[in-house]
Amino acid sequence: MLLKRGKMFIIFSALLGFVIGSISATTINDTETLHTDLFQNYNKNVRPINNQSAAMTVTIALYIKSIQEFDEVNEKFSFVAALQLVWTDEKLMWNPSQYGGLELITVSYNDVWVPELTLSSPSARGTTIGKSSDRIRIHDFGEIEWMPANLIESTCSVNAKKFPFDTQSCSTSFTSLGYKSNEVTLKAGLSTIAFNVYSPNALWDVTGSEAKTEILGTGKESEITFTMHLKRKPAFAVINVILPILVLSLLNVLVFVLVPESGERIGYCITTLLAIAVYMTIVSDLLPQTAEPVPLISYKLMIDMIISALIVLVTIVNMRLHSKDDADIVPGWLNSVYIALSCTRRKIHPNEDAEEIPRRNNILIEKEHLAKEKTKRDFDQASKSENKETDNPVTWKKISYMVDWLALITFTFASLLNMIVFIGIAKS
Ligand SMILES: *[C@@H]1O[C@H](CO)[C@@H](O)[C@H](O)[C@H]1NC(C)=O
Repeated sequence: MLLKRGKMFIIFSALLGFVIGSISATTINDTETLHTDLFQNYNKNVRPINNQSAAMTVTIALYIKSIQEFDEVNEKFSFVAALQLVWTDEKLMWNPSQYGGLELITVSYNDVWVPELTLSSPSARGTTIGKSSDRIRIHDFGEIEWMPANLIESTCSVNAKKFPFDTQSCSTSFTSLGYKSNEVTLKAGLSTIAFNVYSPNALWDVTGSEAKTEILGTGKESEITFTMHLKRKPAFAVINVILPILVLSLLNVLVFVLVPESGERIGYCITTLLAIAVYMTIVSDLLPQTAEPVPLISYKLMIDMIISALIVLVTIVNMRLHSKDDADIVPGWLNSVYIALSCTRRKIHPNEDAEEIPRRNNILIEKEHLAKEKTKRDFDQASKSENKETDNPVTWKKISYMVDWLALITFTFASLLNMIVFIGIAKS
């Protein structure tokens, strides 16, 4: 009886041992033996494929972590990413049951054959992928997985035509420089870049991506290209560039509201002209120095500059008209223009004084409106008194008020049109 129990206990413990053993019987000795067996005749300089005339296929996927920097001026695009390379090494296969069920080992990057990848669009030196601290995972059926992670510094040609509403496409290419495509073929593991671990960028939205492989020519290397489509978040440029320029343009036309007697007109409009020139410098610092294509915003600023220069010109000429002696007779054609304009204005606004000033929140616009009203009133009074006393000739002062009034309308319209056309084209 006792003996029987003893026997049963032995059988039971043996069974238990077998069950536990089959779950995790891999010992350090198994792993060491496997390493010795695998690598004693291994030469990492030989492409590990039995049919040496066939190409080795390396499957590559790119996992992007974050966009580190996108320097449009120097056309530099850098991001933190990991490449996942998978291939089959026909020399590194084993039967797991011979090694206590061991199915996976990791070795150093220096121990096995790896397809050396080189960044073919680098913006800095030392852009071969892989370093000796990388670990390589080997499965029993010969599949090898290598995930080199790095800061990848690539170039990216920037098209700033529609700045700040622009979209950019940045391509990063890798090639296995030492091998021709009939020796090592690169293959895209995914059709896009993987964004599982991506953290968003403050200035750029990613709108799409693609991964594709091509052979650079017959008997040449094969290359894999990852393209990222980016869209700028325009808020920064709108607040720091577009809106200040709009305010400056509107302030600029107010020079025609400033009374000529103040003697401040020229100083005022020259200052605004200089402020616009300063913005031209700021904007050109934000953009790459390319002529193809010229950014639309550069044209827009140039037009603003021309408008501002014309304002200076008109102001100077008008100052001369204003200070002309009344003894000089106003030429007949100018006289008729003046009378024609004051008649048109009378028809358009039969009782202008009763007209309600529209409520607007924008202080600037309201100020400008009030100023316009004042200029209008000056002009009206001038024309009314002219109509009352028909023998009273049109004076140069009245002509000067008329020019102010016309210039105010024309240049306000031109500045707004310039802004609207720019935004319209850039956003299309
Ligand atoms: C080796 O690969 C080449 C090229 O793919 C092929 O033409 C040839 O048939 C292969 N040989 C064997 C024995 O499989």
